[in-house]
Amino acid sequence: MKETETRLISIENRFSPITEQYRNVRTSIQFAATSGNPLKLLLITSTEQEEGKTTLAANLAVVMAETNKKVLLIDGDLRRATAGKYFNVLSSPTQGFSTLLSNYRQLPEEVIQKTQIKNLDFLPAGPIPPNPSELLNSNRLNQLFVMLEEQYDLIIIDSPPLLVVTDAQLFSSKVDGVVLVVRENRTKRNNLVKCKNLLERSNARLIGVVYNGAKAMNDGHYKYYKY
Ligand SMILES: Nc1ncnc2c1ncn2[C@@H]1O[C@H](COP(=O)(O)OP(=O)(O)OP(=O)(O)O)[C@@H](O)[C@H]1O
Ligand SMILES: [Mg+2]
Repeated sequence: MKETETRLISIENRFSPITEQYRNVRTSIQFAATSGNPLKLLLITSTEQEEGKTTLAANLAVVMAETNKKVLLIDGDLRRATAGKYFNVLSSPTQGFSTLLSNYRQLPEEVIQKTQIKNLDFLPAGPIPPNPSELLNSNRLNQLFVMLEEQYDLIIIDSPPLLVVTDAQLFSSKVDGVVLVVRENRTKRNNLVKCKNLLERSNARLIGVVYNGAKAMNDGHYKYYKY
């Protein structure tokens, strides 16, 4: 693993222009939340792999926690969990979101971990289940969301790509808002249209698109621009 892959720009450099971009995304989300509809459950996804979903989810969780809100980041990528690498948490927990989903008696607080960041907790994906989509397409997920919404002000869910597996679409119908990450020179326009249609079909609320610039900055971090 490259060193840069595990760095969280928003805590390492609270005043960098990139951290400011994350705060801009935060502001847009806050605006979306005040326009009538609450925004407690937020899904981060994209069309395909490696477009910057997890990087955005982790950094957004940090800048949201800065506002003194109680924030939970869920690693909802049950197939390729990577969000944990950004935080001081167990690297391969034997329990997590997948065990919570399959075991109705397990409580979220038994598997949620504290991070090094004040106000920010992390729910790891847990062991890879044989049937991630089935687990997510269950009433247990609704039940868990109800419990978690009581305990947190904001819940950010990192997810697999929308066009690769159905998991993100399943989440999208149960959350309050969806943020799509678009990566420069990579995300295909017709895929974006497909995603928009998929989200419409599941009655999801697309609250914004975050543009992930192609060039890494000198320090190995990426530019984020908001549309
Ligand atoms: N703008 C960028 N320029 C260069 N590399 C980037 C950029 N954005 C992300 N990356 C790198 O691409 C890889 C994927 O990023 P990240 O894990 O955030 O994407 P993802 O959409 O979550 O991927 P996956 O679909 O595999 O979960 C990481 O190694 C990350 O450091
Ligand atoms: Mg990811």
